[in-house]
Amino acid sequence: MFERIFTPNSEAEKPAPIHPRKGVIIGAGQVGMACAYSILIQDCFDQLILQDIAKERVEGEVMDLLHGMPFMSPTELKAGTIAEEGQDADIVVITAGAAQKPGESRLNLVERNITIFKNLLSDVVKYCPNAILLIVSNPVDIMTYVTLKITGFPSSRVIGSGTVLDTARFRSLLAKKMGIDPRSVHAYIIGEHGDSEVAVWSTANIAGMKLIEGKWENLPSTEREELTALFEDVRNAAYEIIKLKGCTSYAIGLAVTDIIKAILRSQQRILTVSSLIDGLYGIDDVCLGLPTVLNEKGIFKIVNLTLSEMEKEQLQHSAQVLREIFAQLKL
Ligand code: 2OP
Repeated sequence: MFERIFTPNSEAEKPAPIHPRKGVIIGAGQVGMACAYSILIQDCFDQLILQDIAKERVEGEVMDLLHGMPFMSPTELKAGTIAEEGQDADIVVITAGAAQKPGESRLNLVERNITIFKNLLSDVVKYCPNAILLIVSNPVDIMTYVTLKITGFPSSRVIGSGTVLDTARFRSLLAKKMGIDPRSVHAYIIGEHGDSEVAVWSTANIAGMKLIEGKWENLPSTEREELTALFEDVRNAAYEIIKLKGCTSYAIGLAVTDIIKAILRSQQRILTVSSLIDGLYGIDDVCLGLPTVLNEKGIFKIVNLTLSEMEKEQLQHSAQVLREIFAQLKL
């Protein structure tokens, strides 16, 4: 139709012999759409497919985003399914599932979300056998483990968003307290993405300066109370946000985008994603969040972080909480 505008038979019209980077997001609710928006504006994929059971709504979301394309780098964006448009994706992000209600724990969602996962993972295995799976649905550590068991994929390719968001919340609150950029705070939240998560105070530092000197137990009680209050704000952040606006979305969208960039660009970046832990800190056969090196294959290595005795015990307790839930699962 617009032939008159272009010179004919340009060499560049021949398809480039490169493999387009394809992503699929399953679940286009608040979290899925925050992920999609952030992924699009940070130019992660060449093709992005949004899948949701609410077909009309996802069509509307795609139309809305497509109208913004002139303001971002091009991505071929479509509503579709894993079985059709999403085949052979490089990364499949799963945000589908029941969401927490105000006051509800993430662990309450297990049964509902396992049923949903059982239905959708058969298509993922069939149509994207080589994909890296990024699980965001809660309880994320359990859903990552369930995905590993159902798909039989190697553990390097089944990744949960873990405590990446909790670590970001921790850094943001510490940064605000100290009046510095959160990117200059080096501190981790590990373990369950949930009530048993652990703040690693012993290695938390800015510019190599430890935030606490010596043992936690030996800190003055006023200091311990102040730091405990800050950690409680991190741990309870989702409850607070859900009470105020019904869900959390933007920060998890940004966290997911960072994980995706680390994988697609093979950054060897360290993020506290959730993955299968076997033999670290005496923990076996549990998925939980630890500082992990990510590259184009997915999980490259898990950092053997030096923990204080107290932190090690807290991490083992967090693993135990998750193990007890796994033990009751009927997969
Ligand atoms: C969050 O922490 C609800 O897991 C979600 O924001």
